[in-house]
Amino acid sequence: STMALALSPQMGWNSWNFFACNINETVIKETADALISTGLADLGYIYVNIDDCWSLPTRNSKGELVADPETFPSGIRALADYIHGKGLKLGIYSDAGVFTCQVRPGSLNYEKDDAEQFASWGVDYLKYDNCYNLGIKPEKRYPPMRNALNATGRTIFYSICEWGVDDPALWAGKVGNSWRTTDDINDSWASMTTIADLNNKWAAYAGPGGWNDPDMLEVGNGGMTYEEYRAHFSIWALMKAPLLIGCDVRNMSEDTFELLSNKEVIAVNQDSLGVQGRRVHVAGENDCRQVWAGPLSGNCLVVALWNRCSKAATITAEWELLGLQSSTSVSVRDLWKREDLSGYAVASFGVQVAAHDCEMYIFTPQIASHSEI
Ligand code: DGJ
Repeated sequence: STMALALSPQMGWNSWNFFACNINETVIKETADALISTGLADLGYIYVNIDDCWSLPTRNSKGELVADPETFPSGIRALADYIHGKGLKLGIYSDAGVFTCQVRPGSLNYEKDDAEQFASWGVDYLKYDNCYNLGIKPEKRYPPMRNALNATGRTIFYSICEWGVDDPALWAGKVGNSWRTTDDINDSWASMTTIADLNNKWAAYAGPGGWNDPDMLEVGNGGMTYEEYRAHFSIWALMKAPLLIGCDVRNMSEDTFELLSNKEVIAVNQDSLGVQGRRVHVAGENDCRQVWAGPLSGNCLVVALWNRCSKAATITAEWELLGLQSSTSVSVRDLWKREDLSGYAVASFGVQVAAHDCEMYIFTPQIASHSEI
């Protein structure tokens, strides 16, 4: 869980949101193949993460975790070899309790053995869940696995999945590379917006080495509209959330691919400054006209105009909300239209945004001209 590992938020895919327990090695391999053939891997989606249900319900006579021989007959080592052969990385899942949420063996009190097992299989990432935790404080249960992973000598990304129960932003920065700030997302507008707001609260705690995790992407799973998924992806990118695809990438629609593959939106997420953007302004009924923004490297800003109202609305970002002088000239690039707007904006920038949609821009403030001496 070395900090150099997570200089930008992790990107990849995870099995849970679409497949839940219906996983097997063929699905995982075909997903890896699809990440390569679609070009998503080249855009940075390199972790292929197996979630709950990969293991047998009991340990073997040596006390080891065993991959389910019906669904993973070749074993995790072979799967890791396959994934590595494609230039990708393999993630696995366990739990800081006596069972996983789907009642497979957990790693509480088996941290050292399980970490060594994962390392010996060639695993690159561990998502560590919070079920059946015997009521022991997370600050006691999560560090032993960090220590065990570090002791293996293998570089293993450590994803803390504590669901935001005990304010992990306050303690997990020293423990893992990301920490869930909320309960599970589901594939709905209500869930996605609620989670965005909860995660926003912890913005100050994110940065290179450790990230707030508002849970995995639902883009492409069918429960939201194109506009809602665009908002979901835009805000997750701006919030420096892990970009872990949660749909079946073997069968993505063109719309889904278009959203997930927007290079400039991904670049916002992966920006070297590593500052989590936040909600900077709300207006209108139920605060539904929202401006989210954050600084980027090179003195630029990312600005998202998010319409959470049920009708189209004009949303305006005033320079003072963004920390700019109102006289500053700003060149504006539209990340979804993929075009530079002509001329400069001064003092404010507003556009009409469709219901539930989110427009996203990079603002480049122009250096003020100086009088000659
Ligand atoms: C709860 C986690 O929050 C989910 O992301 C998923 O890992 C399930 N457990 C698996 O049982």
